[in-house]
Amino acid sequence: MNEALVPRLPRLRLVHGPTPLLHLDALDEIVGTQVWVKRDDATSGAESGNKIRKLEFLLGDALKRGARAVITCGGLQSNHARATALTCAQLGLRSILLLRVADPERARAEPLALEGNVLLDRLAGAEIRFVSPAEYRQRAGLFEQACAECESEGVPAYIVPEGGSNGLGSLGYVEAMREVRGQMDLGLAGDGMFDVVAHACGSGGTAAGVGLGAAHFGVARETWAFAPTHVRGCRRRPISHAHRRASCSAAADRAISPPSAMACWPPPISPARSLLSRTRRRTSPRRFGLAASPTAWT
Ligand SMILES: Cc1ncc(COP(=O)(O)O)c(C=O)c1O
Repeated sequence: MNEALVPRLPRLRLVHGPTPLLHLDALDEIVGTQVWVKRDDATSGAESGNKIRKLEFLLGDALKRGARAVITCGGLQSNHARATALTCAQLGLRSILLLRVADPERARAEPLALEGNVLLDRLAGAEIRFVSPAEYRQRAGLFEQACAECESEGVPAYIVPEGGSNGLGSLGYVEAMREVRGQMDLGLAGDGMFDVVAHACGSGGTAAGVGLGAAHFGVARETWAFAPTHVRGCRRRPISHAHRRASCSAAADRAISPPSAMACWPPPISPARSLLSRTRRRTSPRRFGLAASPTAWT
């Protein structure tokens, strides 16, 4: 049950795992149910957070394909871009970041305020390219263009999608659920299955992997995805796309269970408060797993 689902896929070991699974009585009291926190803010050093679980598979694939440059994208203070830039620097890979800003002309003309993730991007030696929100929506073309530029310099390039969220990246969270299962089997997570695993959701890969992994490894009956920033809530399309692709990648090795019942929320109030009010109001899960990762490095 607790064997790796994807033993034959190339994978780097970037996560300092298993990350701790914490239970705090004081938190139970506030929430009114039993809460366990999976400390995925502690996956590593400066590159820490949920993204490096996906990068284990994505950069493993990049290296297998002989890439020497990695191109990815995100907002100006993207956690994913920071994790990619730092990990690429460790692996001796060039990184190119397409970062979304309101006014790219101005961003290019003025000295960049070096703070938070973008400071770490720079320290890692990443090449930063500013793109407007409109260009970002059409980023497939920009990815291709950056790729062609690298190839013309004799540098094979690999594209990592927004948030590392495709089928391959999502396998990082299938494996994270295997890690939780291992902790459960060792008696480090209380008694029995969790009722719910709740986690943040942006580009959708974490939701896809947690949904598949929680069902496959018998971690939780339901998974709940909370949008930390998007006013319109979690975007279901990328999640279901990543679900399908992740099932296919894993199925190349062995069968994978369908995702557990999954629910998504827009953030009517802060994700933490909406989580608490929902917990109190209706579903009252008895045992709650919460995947935590840092919200920003500022
Ligand atoms: C702190 C944090 N954790 C988890 C996630 C979910 O990651 P994704 O849906 O991009 O896989 C996000 C995304 O915005 C986030 O900011």
